[in-house]
Amino acid sequence: TSAQNKASFITDSTGPVINRDIYGHFAEHLGNCIYGGFFVGDTSHIPNSSGVRKDVIAALKNLNIPNLRWPGGCFADTYHWKDGIGPKAKRPTIVNTWWGNVTEDNSFGTHDFLNMCEALGAEPYLSGNVGSGTVQELSDWVQYTNFKGKSPMSDLRAENGRATPWQVKYWGIGNEAWGCGGNMRAEYYADEFRKYATFMSSSGGRLFRIASGANSSDYNWTDVLMRNIPKNLIEGIALHHYAVIRWEGKGPAVKFNEEQYFATMRSALFMDTLVTRHSAIMDKYDPQKKIALVVDEWGGWYDVEEGTNPGFLFQQNTMRDAVLAGSTLNIFNNHADRVRMANLAQAINVLQSVIFTKGDTMVLTPTYHVMEMYKVHQDATLIPMRINTNDYTYGNEKLPAVSVSASKDKSGVTHITLVNIDANKAQDITVDTKNTGYKNVSGRILTSAKLQDYNSFSRPDRIKPAAFTGAALKNGALAVKLPPFSVVMLTLQ
Ligand code: AHR
Repeated sequence: TSAQNKASFITDSTGPVINRDIYGHFAEHLGNCIYGGFFVGDTSHIPNSSGVRKDVIAALKNLNIPNLRWPGGCFADTYHWKDGIGPKAKRPTIVNTWWGNVTEDNSFGTHDFLNMCEALGAEPYLSGNVGSGTVQELSDWVQYTNFKGKSPMSDLRAENGRATPWQVKYWGIGNEAWGCGGNMRAEYYADEFRKYATFMSSSGGRLFRIASGANSSDYNWTDVLMRNIPKNLIEGIALHHYAVIRWEGKGPAVKFNEEQYFATMRSALFMDTLVTRHSAIMDKYDPQKKIALVVDEWGGWYDVEEGTNPGFLFQQNTMRDAVLAGSTLNIFNNHADRVRMANLAQAINVLQSVIFTKGDTMVLTPTYHVMEMYKVHQDATLIPMRINTNDYTYGNEKLPAVSVSASKDKSGVTHITLVNIDANKAQDITVDTKNTGYKNVSGRILTSAKLQDYNSFSRPDRIKPAAFTGAALKNGALAVKLPPFSVVMLTLQ
């Protein structure tokens, strides 16, 4: 153990509510995410409801999954939604050009996705096609999913078996417009956005239109969009950032060394700088913080597992990913005033997945368990905190070892989530809660013997939350001992 870390609650003003949508997920037509992951078809021997795996539905419901983004990613700007409605046998096929050039039979389409979101109790977040689509196509999609009265699209919806609209609120207008979504300049995309957003109208509740956001530290992108898009057309602006060591040679998902672990965490923790700086730009144009920053793709990205299709982006999920998820979610919580939605990429069988499936079995990854431990923060009120932390050093470089966030839920219970990213040392931390009213602390911890440990189909429960006994309350001061690479959730009552 090294010297004492210190944190304290800042209680002179109340923090913002942590929007539950920060805990969102992402389903892309990529590798085995949709087919075999979410969807097996209603003739499968795997237990399903309208073709969607029942084990997956139960697991995601247990996370209180707030929203799900679909159908991409890069795939979204090649997707024509009308290919995925009506009798399945008559649906055309397309080639999934971004992801392995596999044939997409469109058997999982709009009805399948939106009905699945209803089963999950999650808000759907539809990613519209700007790159290769048309304004008419996107405005038709809105009418198809949301229009209550009689119209060409609502009639078609009813013909396809759904009379009442789903009332989809969240709409992405293109994806990575600076890259796979069309290689546009920010100025050009801002104009495209204005045009698309103008023709999206809903007879039901208000739409929440999200602009395709910056690639990581492209601050100019956010500036140009904020300057050029009128406030009445936009509700959110996205940001994508993956924790990656370097794009050419990302390193293995499992057999990484400490240098690679350190580099991944440096990239992951950079999220704090990104969110701070993009928010500051947004503040210039929107000081009342009406427009949300939506981190609709985040997570660790490594080399694909050997012997798997490189176009499917399948990677294993270890304790490194758990620590990465816990640290990133602490960052989002602490920026809840502006970050009001986020989507981990991708839910099943792809990048930093929460679930892996194989045949009729399923594995919950370490990242799943972090999401489950952190669900207590959903819609709770942030308690802003100050922290003085030791460094986690590797060679001549250093990173803050401990991260923390806290919230008070609607029943008055306080939760604190702490992460120690140090690969070698335990960290002692005292937390001044400015409140002697707490009588009891209990906790849960996620850790394992090695950073490289993961849950496999043969050992699915190797890593799972356990009761945590390393926290003690004395006169309102909380003393916690965090083992190396651990994620801890404390409940104070
Ligand atoms: O998550 C994989 C891909 O990464 C997404 O499709 C794209 O938006 C991003 O570049």
